[in-house]
Amino acid sequence: MNIAVIGAGHVGLVTAACFASKGHMVWCIDNDKRKIDLARQGKASFFEPGLSELIRKVVKENKLHFEYTIEKGISNAVVVFIAVGTPTKKDGRAELCYVEKVAEEIALSLRSYKLIVEKSTVPASTGQWIKKIINTYKTKEAEFDIASNPEFLKEGNALIDSLSPDRIVIGTETDRAKKVMAQLYLDFDAPKIFTSIESAELIKHASNSFLAMKISFINAVADICESVGGDINEVADGMGYDRRIGREFLQAGLGWGGSCFGKDLDAFYNLAEQYHSSFDLLQEVKYINEIRAGQFVEKIKKELWTLEGKQIGILGLSFKPGTDDVRDAVSFKIISLLQNENVFIKWYDPQADYPLLGTKSKNPYDAAKGSHCLCIVTEWDEFRTLDLVKIKSLMKLPIIIDGRNMFHPEDVRKHGFTYVSMGRK
Ligand code: UDX
Repeated sequence: MNIAVIGAGHVGLVTAACFASKGHMVWCIDNDKRKIDLARQGKASFFEPGLSELIRKVVKENKLHFEYTIEKGISNAVVVFIAVGTPTKKDGRAELCYVEKVAEEIALSLRSYKLIVEKSTVPASTGQWIKKIINTYKTKEAEFDIASNPEFLKEGNALIDSLSPDRIVIGTETDRAKKVMAQLYLDFDAPKIFTSIESAELIKHASNSFLAMKISFINAVADICESVGGDINEVADGMGYDRRIGREFLQAGLGWGGSCFGKDLDAFYNLAEQYHSSFDLLQEVKYINEIRAGQFVEKIKKELWTLEGKQIGILGLSFKPGTDDVRDAVSFKIISLLQNENVFIKWYDPQADYPLLGTKSKNPYDAAKGSHCLCIVTEWDEFRTLDLVKIKSLMKLPIIIDGRNMFHPEDVRKHGFTYVSMGRK
């Protein structure tokens, strides 16, 4: 099928490359010239394992094309995905002006039947607004349908999530749209859930809010473990064996960051409020997450007593391993709290960069050198195999504060470290 994807961000570019790899003919459009120029050279504008290689492959096979304008990019397409950003506004609601602008431009370029599909995460009822906008600006005879097909990919695992998802949610309101979507996903081996457009929109917000709730829940339990002497990993394992609960997303630590959970929680809470439903639970989920950075700094203080003039090594800047994304990363909150106390920060991250933040180290050992304490903030795999003997010889004081429970306490303590982690003795 001929497909257009508007937006070359994380969701848009991955969607475009994956559909092209399934044999569809895809045009990916973005008005950000830099993103398109990079993509044309076979490079994603962000780090995502395997993505640049896949882009190069499908571009070579002539399956993926890039354009700057919607008019040009959608002319051949039957299915047009909207995958533009929906950031949070000051009042906590989703900013939908980019979606609206794109809908208007699609309408003005509509010459033949097209199925317009929301891929961006949007509040319920956005589909109906898109329909209204397109009806307002299109020519009388132009035909179209709308659909909602939310994306559930995780950064760092985006290709696998996109090509082999747990489920594909498709919200439509006509048989024609349903058939087109079924045809589009024919080659995907995953359960397909056909719903109304509103249900599909809600599934996305409800799923992300639920996942954020699981993480905040286990983090609150981790705090109780610390008070009563339990071990959060044992508790999470014991809970996770119950198939109704499941072990995934019960990894206690410094909480969630990234561009999705906070934004989606805000948008979902505001949607509920707009319709006079109370969903204060979501506020609590957010609060539990927001206090993690401060709690972590208190753990550091407990070991170092005063912070003024001390040096702390930070391992990991990105909001999670496998990505260079630092949006809403807890590392920034922790570093800022420490810098307020005149701590000298040395940080290391295998992918993420942020020149204005403390001093960047070449490797974990460089970050440890001369530090009074080493903090693990993001659980990159390469930290699992650190040479602890070497680390200890480089540090001023042998203290490791592990915000992600990467190590077994005994493995670290046997090297003579003071080792503090989350929800464990
Ligand atoms: C999330 C959703 O998982 C995905 O379905 C949606 O499409 C976009 O938002 P993403 O933000 O890429 O994906 O990352 P994810 O792997 O879900 O992790 C989010 C945050 O939660 C990270 O900061 C991670 O460190 C944290 N996390 C995750 C935990 O603290 N504990 C866990 O058990 C799981």
